[in-house]
Amino acid sequence: DETGGTGGQSAAPGSGPIKVGFSQLGAESGWRTANTESVKASLTAENGIDLTFVDAQQKQENQIKALRDFIDQGVDVIAFSPVVETGWDEVLQEIKDAEIPVVLVDRTVDTTVVDAYVTWIGADFEAEGTTAGEWVTVNYPDAKIFELQGTLGSGAQVDREAGFDTIVGQQNIVGKASGNFTRAEGKAAMEAALQAYPDMDLLFTHNDDMGLGAIEAMEAAGKKPGEDIQIVSVDGVRDGLQALVDKKFNYVVECNPVFGDQILDTIKKVYAGEQLPRETIVFDQAFDQTITQAEVDARAY
Ligand code: AHR
Repeated sequence: DETGGTGGQSAAPGSGPIKVGFSQLGAESGWRTANTESVKASLTAENGIDLTFVDAQQKQENQIKALRDFIDQGVDVIAFSPVVETGWDEVLQEIKDAEIPVVLVDRTVDTTVVDAYVTWIGADFEAEGTTAGEWVTVNYPDAKIFELQGTLGSGAQVDREAGFDTIVGQQNIVGKASGNFTRAEGKAAMEAALQAYPDMDLLFTHNDDMGLGAIEAMEAAGKKPGEDIQIVSVDGVRDGLQALVDKKFNYVVECNPVFGDQILDTIKKVYAGEQLPRETIVFDQAFDQTITQAEVDARAY
């Protein structure tokens, strides 16, 4: 069912603003901050949206509570970015029973609820991992890789890891640990990894923030990031691209957070009961050290 079935049976559109409950998973990274800004800039009263925005601080229980509050408030459309993939069956069934259509944003869910959401809009995380893996395979085929994982069980972690590991091969990965997509936890995980895997010479980090934390850990341990240990990252926030210009990161696969306008358009169509594709992929590119300072300065986030 490409239109999402039950999830599309919202109340008939009225003339007032569309009441939208948006559950953001947190504020863990530069990417997330840029994504939140983009959402808030697009889902405005001028654009016909009455927005309730709730930040779950990376806690699934907070997110489930926010979703239940949206049901109680009788919003027209729920949009949410799930912190992890599983554990949503009960609340998604409650939303479905309340006949509120769901737009999934950024991350994905793994649920037994049929037609739990109308449509999903986000990046192809597996392709991001594949792109990173292909660069490593071409440029550092014998690398001893340490992998800094994002929030365990999140779509971004699961799929980036699957895409990357398939290309480089498990035998080239000396160790893995999660840094929960934050700079502080990325730094701590890297400090431990430098002790545990002294032979590593390449870091694949699932986002820029953890990679930037890892740089601090490497420098404190007397290692030169980008030379002694190559760094391949995902996101392409300005700080990450600056690290590329500074030759501390070696390659960055973009994950574009600025798609608030596409979310707005999707919500309006969902509310109007229009046909929508089951998924919309946000376009990504990739950057190497040929990026210029001017390009980084021109970056919007
Ligand atoms: O889900 C997207 C990921 O979440 C971004 O890559 C990361 O920075 C964020 O925390």
